[in-house]
Amino acid sequence: MEQNSAILLCVTKLREEEQRIIDHLKVFGIRVQVNLDSMELPLGGGEVEPFGLALIRCLSQKNALNRAQLLELAGHETLNSVKAITICTNKIHQAIVFQKHGIPQPRFKIAFTPEKLYDAMRNFDELCVIKPATSSWGRGIARITGKECLDGWIAARESVDPGHQSFPVLVQQFVEKGDYDIRVVIVGRTPIVAFRRVSADNWKTNTHLGAEIDPIPINEEIASICRRLTEVLGEGVYGADLFYDYKEQRYLVCEVNQNPEFAKSWKIHGVDVAYHIAKYVREVVELKNTAKYTAKYTVIS
Ligand SMILES: Nc1ncnc2c1ncn2[C@@H]1O[C@H](COP(=O)(O)OP(=O)(O)O)[C@@H](O)[C@H]1O
Ligand SMILES: [Mg+2]
Repeated sequence: MEQNSAILLCVTKLREEEQRIIDHLKVFGIRVQVNLDSMELPLGGGEVEPFGLALIRCLSQKNALNRAQLLELAGHETLNSVKAITICTNKIHQAIVFQKHGIPQPRFKIAFTPEKLYDAMRNFDELCVIKPATSSWGRGIARITGKECLDGWIAARESVDPGHQSFPVLVQQFVEKGDYDIRVVIVGRTPIVAFRRVSADNWKTNTHLGAEIDPIPINEEIASICRRLTEVLGEGVYGADLFYDYKEQRYLVCEVNQNPEFAKSWKIHGVDVAYHIAKYVREVVELKNTAKYTAKYTVIS
């Protein structure tokens, strides 16, 4: 490999999963500069070794986006791309982009004021889910089961957010998804593994909230949704959350995460996600070193 066989790895702290990515990259002969959120970004002009690509794995979505934007402005390519991170870190952006590109998703409304939440709830037969635009790990996501419930949701927020700074919010129909959702990990363009996240006693099936992992095969319908997602978002590393909607009998995209965690899950399903990420990084770095290279992660506009 040539001069640019080094990458910048942006992280909040080196967790088990990032360490594993580093170990695989080293085997591939790729040098890794670790850049913690607390460190300065190498934006040019310094004594830093040149790097061919910045792999963004910051824990906070805000940090991920900020750092990727600055790196891109300084002329560096990031994985994921700034556009993909921008879309994936905002549930409202995702809903709009997926609608534009015909990606199947729960029916939704964007509510710009608390009053509009009542219309949205009626639209979804008095059963819906309210989501802040930016959140993860199931935080701030509420199931609304009728007018009294919504009155309570609005009242609880009035004192902490009197100016309604947290609006607009996303309102989705509540999907009859059984006791699980499906996480598909995509690396490059390939869905490398899929598993159910099963929770008998919580409708939010995040693994952080205790859901169990149950590996499943990637069927043609799931593969085809993943193809569409990478066409729209560009190649990258993604954790797509899907529902199987038992009422409509089809798959829907709940959301796509730009920095999927895998430390716990890969030990159960056995697919070495870190290896696939490292292999993909090597492909991109090698390709960038050839004259034919054009950016691969362009989002369709
Ligand atoms: N519209 C919905 N219908 C049914 N369950 C939902 C819906 N939206 C989210 N959930 C449940 O809540 C969990 C968290 O929602 P998600 O949009 O993935 O946010 P987060 O970014 O916090 O993971 C999902 O994994 C799913 O189990
Ligand atoms: Mg999720």
